Amino acid sequence: ASTLGASAAEHGRYFGTAIAAGRLNDGTYTTIAGREFNMVTPENEMKWDATEPSQGNFQYGSADQIVNFATSRGMRVRGHALAWHAQQPSWAQGMSGTALRNAMLNHITQVATHFRGKIHSWDVVNEAFADGGSGGRRDSNLQRTGNDWIEAAFRAARAADPNAKLCYNDYNTDNWNDAKTQGVYRMVQDFKSRGVPIDCVGLQSHFTGGSDYPSNYRTTLSSFAALGVDVQITELDIRNANATAYANTVRDCYAVPRCNGITVWGVRDSDSWRSNESPLLFDGSGNKKQAYNSVLSALNEG
Ligand code: G3I
Repeated sequence: ASTLGASAAEHGRYFGTAIAAGRLNDGTYTTIAGREFNMVTPENEMKWDATEPSQGNFQYGSADQIVNFATSRGMRVRGHALAWHAQQPSWAQGMSGTALRNAMLNHITQVATHFRGKIHSWDVVNEAFADGGSGGRRDSNLQRTGNDWIEAAFRAARAADPNAKLCYNDYNTDNWNDAKTQGVYRMVQDFKSRGVPIDCVGLQSHFTGGSDYPSNYRTTLSSFAALGVDVQITELDIRNANATAYANTVRDCYAVPRCNGITVWGVRDSDSWRSNESPLLFDGSGNKKQAYNSVLSALNEG
């Protein structure tokens, strides 16, 4: 096939992008997005600060705009993110204990209910593990409500939207040998053994360069999948858009039957949070880059 989404679909996968509501009036942007991708992740619009700016006051305007953009074009949606230590509204940042736990659970229930039936997969909990060698949890106001906050979040999400896949999503969990990867692996293993409702693991995959592409990435994907969860590559971008690393990412996903799909974190380099590193598949003018061609051929090779 001649587009990323159509090629991925021929192999039972999706190929997605992050979308920012503020760019939906840019014709170059919407043309590329509508043509190439069949999955959409709102880049910021479903986060806690955006959807519940004051406690109990829910605002879905920008998120709904993106969901409508996607569904009217036959694209599906990844929800991002219900519970996270960052991008919390200021009223939540200062909370702790039972009040924060209840606010988090209510937030999850309300947001997942609003979008019920429209979300392919939810990032229920984002970035809860610490960087470095500990393999343990990141300190945060949510973590300080009790170590069971993650499973409580997943149970609330399941109750609100029983048909969405529920994912744990993180970065620097690509190299199988990293303590952080192992920590997340042990949590998923524990959740599966105790019946905590988790369906998928999202590997953000913000790669810093060709040489940093982990040679054991496929092992990471297949090891998580062997626990009985799907794996999704959720925020892919690669410094200088190294074409080989991009193609390897596609091949590694395809090698793992439970790798559902790949999402790149933006359309053009100019749309990227790392725009100074030109990490995406389209340049600032919307032209296809070498990395685009290498991804498309890898998708078509199957
Ligand atoms: O919308 C406001 C605007 O009203 C305000 O005037 C302006 C002033 O700073 O800020 C705007 O918000 C910014 C927002 O992006 C929208 O552009 C925030 O400051 C900025 O912090 C925010 O950055 C986002 C970042 O998450 C925040 O943590 C990036 O766009 C987004 O790409 C990035 O995405 C994260 C994933 O959610 C989780 N994984 C890592 C990834 C990259 O950091």
